[in-house]
Amino acid sequence: MTYARIIGTGSFLPGAPISNDDLVARGIDTSDAWIVERTGIRARHLAESNVGASDLALQASLRALAAANKQPADVDLIIVATSTPDMIFPSAAALLQDKLGIRNGAPAFDVQAVCSGFVYALTLAKKLIASGSHRCALVVGAEVFSRILDWNDRGTCVLFGDGAGAVLLAASEEPGILATALHADGSYRDILSVPGQIAGGQVVGSPFLQMEGQAVFKFAVKVLAEVAREVLGQAGLGIGDVDWLIPHQANMRILDATARKLGLPAEKIIATVAHHGNTSAASIPLALDEAVRSGRISRGQTLLLEAVGGGFTWGAALLKF
Ligand code: ACO
Repeated sequence: MTYARIIGTGSFLPGAPISNDDLVARGIDTSDAWIVERTGIRARHLAESNVGASDLALQASLRALAAANKQPADVDLIIVATSTPDMIFPSAAALLQDKLGIRNGAPAFDVQAVCSGFVYALTLAKKLIASGSHRCALVVGAEVFSRILDWNDRGTCVLFGDGAGAVLLAASEEPGILATALHADGSYRDILSVPGQIAGGQVVGSPFLQMEGQAVFKFAVKVLAEVAREVLGQAGLGIGDVDWLIPHQANMRILDATARKLGLPAEKIIATVAHHGNTSAASIPLALDEAVRSGRISRGQTLLLEAVGGGFTWGAALLKF
């Protein structure tokens, strides 16, 4: 049986951290105490206006390639999960391919499933590798959410940040990704959205993120626990077999509530949201890379990745690292 196995990870956060107090200094009507108590977020990184998602993706990808001891030319599939691509088209994945100098004709495309995008992208790459059509996939989550934030809406702008994370997935006889599950329910479209579009050279509708925070919170905790159990069931494993839960880094209260619902000790959660905020599709590979580089995650451990995002979309992946 051919598995898809993570052979390298990388991540990138642009510029210096912007603390909660820095936001107050910039005139946002909030406080460090409010943000920390409700979300656990202490800082975020914001990309300069001339830096796009593909630029962040490039840095994360170079680090993942170096960690795997691979060259860009070894990559035969590129999937970028993003809701904030550089432009309408070409895709961020095509731009990334060009920036990496990959000229081997490897397919490159974006996946748009908002905060679940990385789990969606990883699942697609895993299935293509398992089918035998591809052997080395670069899977990236990259976002510049700062572009779609209304800095006059304190209820949302304090929550998000920019960043990228990448993994290199390779075909392997050794176990890698064991189980995946993806879901969506578009009837929840209105509780988290950026409803605007570009038409006739104009922005039509709001180009800013809008959210019903409490509805998102309840929905997130419910489906994250369900989908975690679903992939564990597929693999015939129990929650006690999981070494690390690497959830979408939305906010600490969602992470803690999900772990409690699953009966997983809080020490088994990889949580990096405090220093980069919610980076949407980038958050899982960012958290994974930081935990790998700091030595918390080691080879052979069982990891549970899970996410929920606008749509609503949600999904999970269970893997042997
Ligand atoms: N600073 C200070 N006060 C604020 C801020 C702020 N940044 N934002 C809102 N407030 C105020 C409100 O105006 C309100 O004041 P009022 O009582 O005088 O009217 C008060 O705080 C409470 O507002 P709520 O919106 O009810 O606050 P809530 O307790 O629901 O917390 C939060 C808001 C943190 C967004 C919470 O609902 C939450 O965590 N939701 C989950 C949403 C989330 O994480 N989304 C991420 C994107 S989705 C995803 O990634 C899956």
